[in-house]
Amino acid sequence: MQGVTRSYGVHEVLKGVDWAVPPRARVGLVGPNGAGKTTLLRLIAGAEEPDGGALDIVRGTSLGYLPQEGARLADGTVLEALLQPFSEILAMEKEIERLHHEMATAIGERQESLTRRSGDLQHRFEAAGGFELEAKAKAILGGLGFGPEDHARPLREFSGGYRMRAALGALLLRRPDYLLLDEPTNHLDLEAVAWLEDFLSDVPSALIVVSHDRTFLNRTVTSIAEMQEGRLTVWAGNYDRYRAEKEKARALAIKKAASEAHRVAEVERFIERFRYKATKARQVQSRLKMLEKMERTEVMAGEPTWRFSFPPVPRSAQRVALLSAVRKSFGSRHVLKGLDLEIWRGDRIALVGPNGCGKSTLLQVVAGRLPADDGVVELGEKFRAARARDPDAGADGAGGDAGLGPGKGPRAAALASGHLPVLG
Ligand SMILES: Nc1ncnc2c1ncn2[C@@H]1O[C@H](COP(=O)(O)OP(=O)(O)OP(=O)(O)O)[C@@H](O)[C@H]1O
Ligand SMILES: [Mg+2]
Repeated sequence: MQGVTRSYGVHEVLKGVDWAVPPRARVGLVGPNGAGKTTLLRLIAGAEEPDGGALDIVRGTSLGYLPQEGARLADGTVLEALLQPFSEILAMEKEIERLHHEMATAIGERQESLTRRSGDLQHRFEAAGGFELEAKAKAILGGLGFGPEDHARPLREFSGGYRMRAALGALLLRRPDYLLLDEPTNHLDLEAVAWLEDFLSDVPSALIVVSHDRTFLNRTVTSIAEMQEGRLTVWAGNYDRYRAEKEKARALAIKKAASEAHRVAEVERFIERFRYKATKARQVQSRLKMLEKMERTEVMAGEPTWRFSFPPVPRSAQRVALLSAVRKSFGSRHVLKGLDLEIWRGDRIALVGPNGCGKSTLLQVVAGRLPADDGVVELGEKFRAARARDPDAGADGAGGDAGLGPGKGPRAAALASGHLPVLG
């Protein structure tokens, strides 16, 4: 990319981006919301055209693009979504099936010829990697949280999050030269994120991944491309290294700017002092010129800091909540099946578990927003609930787990199959 620009109306999103991504590079594309990361990926993927500048992709390069939202997928089953780009192999498999079907009723010479043809075809299927392909597809689906019973289910039966997972799976099986992934962990639970990190480390494709997940970036990329105010800066190293280097560069710039300001002030003082003195006129003139030419280092903005202030609340009882044998079902779906939990004042609990297992349901029961069907929910005196909702939450409120690194919470509660073992 050279001097690539892109505007929406009067809003200049890319103000001249220069970028080269070599084969097998592993780049994390970062920047604040609205910085233009998605726009940049869409340009590379050819989903959008730049307004100006040059964008060249080496001829014959294959690209695989996972959009941030709404990946388009063919109709058909989950497994077919992954195998679809390998249509030749799929056609062979269908033909083998058909021949076997015909063989069942054929006799004599006809049967012999069918057997020969099917044998030939099986050979070619095997040589083309047909058997491994399906096994690989199933392994990928497993890693992304699809059970064996899901393989033959039509994709449209799945939630948007799971359809995104299938789209990601299809890209991973296809292994294009460049993988362009726009926030791939958004729809994944912790287990699937860990699987994806492992999988990506073995993939030979170049990787450009947009993510706000620091742990994920640290484990998958070796350089960081930062979009900020319409421009792109590339830093070597993973995310932590980028943060450290950036902080160092900023500290240096602050120092440089301070010493420049000091010199400027000195010159200004001289000018101020002798400005009306005829004998110093020439010196004042030369200093005025000097002032114009003096370097002024710009200090990049620091990381925005978040400030929270929690309003004072009355001290609650020692035991904040007690749940005992709590049951909650939605129709025939039994979400909480006899759940026990105690929460003590000062506890900080990470609630983890696969999508749809009932994390949000449990929160709502504890907060008193959802009545339990059965069991005891005892809230301590002066109990008050406040919550910040996950803006990406789907209808069942699941999702948003990906940002939690392992071991971040002092205590983790794993919610599986409606029971709650408390760990750590
Ligand atoms: N089709 C469009 N029409 C108008 N404005 C758009 C369009 N697409 C993007 N923008 C604007 O361009 C800017 C960059 O958007 P983009 O989606 O590339 O940001 P991003 O870095 O991917 O943000 P996020 O982290 O939220 O995904 C935003 O201000 C956005 O509102
Ligand atoms: Mg985006």
